[in-house]
Amino acid sequence: ARKIIIDTDPGQDDAVAILLALASPEEIDVLGITAVAGNVPLPLTQKNARIICELVGRSDIPVYAGCDAPLRRPLVTAEHVHGKTGLDGPELTDPTMPLADGHAVDFIVETLRSQSSGTVTLCPLGPLTNIAAAFNKAPDIIEKVQEIILMGGAYFEVGNITPAAEFNIYVDPEAADIVFKSGCPIVVMPLDVTHKVLVTKPRCDAFRALDSKVGTFVAQMTEFFERFDVAKYGSAGAPLHDPCVTAYLIRPALFTGRHINVEIETQSELTLGMTVADWWGVTDRPANATFIGDVDADGFFDLLTERLARL
Ligand code: BDR
Ligand code: CA
Repeated sequence: ARKIIIDTDPGQDDAVAILLALASPEEIDVLGITAVAGNVPLPLTQKNARIICELVGRSDIPVYAGCDAPLRRPLVTAEHVHGKTGLDGPELTDPTMPLADGHAVDFIVETLRSQSSGTVTLCPLGPLTNIAAAFNKAPDIIEKVQEIILMGGAYFEVGNITPAAEFNIYVDPEAADIVFKSGCPIVVMPLDVTHKVLVTKPRCDAFRALDSKVGTFVAQMTEFFERFDVAKYGSAGAPLHDPCVTAYLIRPALFTGRHINVEIETQSELTLGMTVADWWGVTDRPANATFIGDVDADGFFDLLTERLARL
């Protein structure tokens, strides 16, 4: 199984990404979960991560709290999408499992230093603050990362928080810039692909038909979460952005993309946080990321539903 650290700001779609990982121990070994401020402030994202672990009886997974604000900017949140808890939809009870001692950034650094080089994959599902802070603090870990598989950015689908930028990159563009320039192998799940992974009514019914605590929880979360996208984009259901990351670890053949140059806009007020992706190869800037553009959405939902049934 691939050893991973999930860096996250739950978020209903983050929660589904975590559940998919925990349901797939043959392919994925979750070493720990690091919470970051994003969709909602840090006290809520770290709590939500623990709620998800406890939901499936995995209080053994260490959950660390990380950065409570972007590297150089005030935090922008997304309660308009995720609700005031960040996990609106199901009824939530406070977790009893404690937060792990120590800072998420130190956990990332120590894990990469203590595991063999090239054996730990980072899976960021929120703003890239924790990852960039770890790289700033301990540049020696950069070459030890096996791969970074992240949700963020957009190219043909442009933005969801501004006309030009996707939320995770927009919230901490300086952090994203550090990560994209790090030299680590990177796979990007931008809105171009996540907007194809929609929880339509029949797909949501399939979660509910699992007739389990997890199936009901996921159906209730996606029903809340879809309100924003259906109203805004007229889409057929909630886009499951972050689970694309964990699905890619399990079944990469569901996804296709291009290995291209991707750079982050950090200066312009108008296009701050834009992922400038050289999809057509019109520059000679070196490729630094695999930018995913397409997915077998039915295959994705078959996988997700089958795995959630195991929990
Ligand atoms: C990303 O932003 C958050 O709202 C979601 O959890 C996802 O990570 C989509 O732009
Ligand atoms: Ca997220």
